[in-house]
Amino acid sequence: MLNSGIAGSYISYLLKAKTRYGIHSPFMYDFVTQILNDKSTYEEYKQIDEVVRQCKRSEKTIEIIDFGADSGNEPFKKRFRKISDIAASSGISKKMGRLLFRLVRYYQTENILELGTSLGISTMYLALANPEAKVTTVEGCENTAELAKRNFGAVGINNIESVTGNFRYVLSNTIKTIPRLDFAFIDGDHREKSTFEYFETCLKKVHNNTIMVFDDIYWSRGMTRAWKKIKKHQSVSVSIDLFRIGIVFFRKELSKEDFVLRAF
Ligand SMILES: C[S@@+](CC[C@H](N)C(=O)[O-])C[C@H]1O[C@@H](n2cnc3c(N)ncnc32)[C@H](O)[C@@H]1O
Repeated sequence: MLNSGIAGSYISYLLKAKTRYGIHSPFMYDFVTQILNDKSTYEEYKQIDEVVRQCKRSEKTIEIIDFGADSGNEPFKKRFRKISDIAASSGISKKMGRLLFRLVRYYQTENILELGTSLGISTMYLALANPEAKVTTVEGCENTAELAKRNFGAVGINNIESVTGNFRYVLSNTIKTIPRLDFAFIDGDHREKSTFEYFETCLKKVHNNTIMVFDDIYWSRGMTRAWKKIKKHQSVSVSIDLFRIGIVFFRKELSKEDFVLRAF
């Protein structure tokens, strides 16, 4: 159930959200018709669905480090969790995972960074969308990262590099290894300050065609403020609010505009 803060944000989103009929910009029209509303059933979806099914069925328990935004500061607590629970609560939804897949596929982005691997479900969508891409994914919990690597192996994906460590300590070095950042998916440590700092660190490798996607933009008041700051940033031209996720583009040929769209 939505808490009252999120419910309020959702109502305001619904009131502002446009469908494709309210869109006049050719770039956005393309985005809506070619990506957002693309209902094709890509073969790769089936491979991911099977991994998700197996994770959701797994009764196995692992010890995880709880990096949750509401888990306080370091040292982070450890606790045991069932793999099925991790898959159900942390894994990206089918709708959003498939949208990430279509974004990468359509724009053919190559150098991809993900913050927050968990079991690697979103990572697989990103990696399978463009086999020529290299996906660098960062996860703080070693046991979870190991499971994700097993999932990548099960699907035979070999364009993913896993980095294990706290984003706070490993991101600045990780970003140096990426020649140019074509796509970033930020899906962990949902705090206002951290989210904005990760955005700023990524800016070092951003170019005109970079796409950045933020998950859970209305998860808390802090995340809502972080999203507002990100879309207002001078380097961002177009921002797209799909309520669950926010997408920003840096294309200088587009005038600065904030679109609130009905996701599906
Ligand atoms: C929501 S889950 C990611 C889900 C994944 N992207 C997917 O959709 O399948 C967030 C993950 O980020 C990790 N995480 C959160 N804060 C972190 C931090 N500061 N450093 C490293 N990992 C962190 C958590 O351990 C968790 O596995």
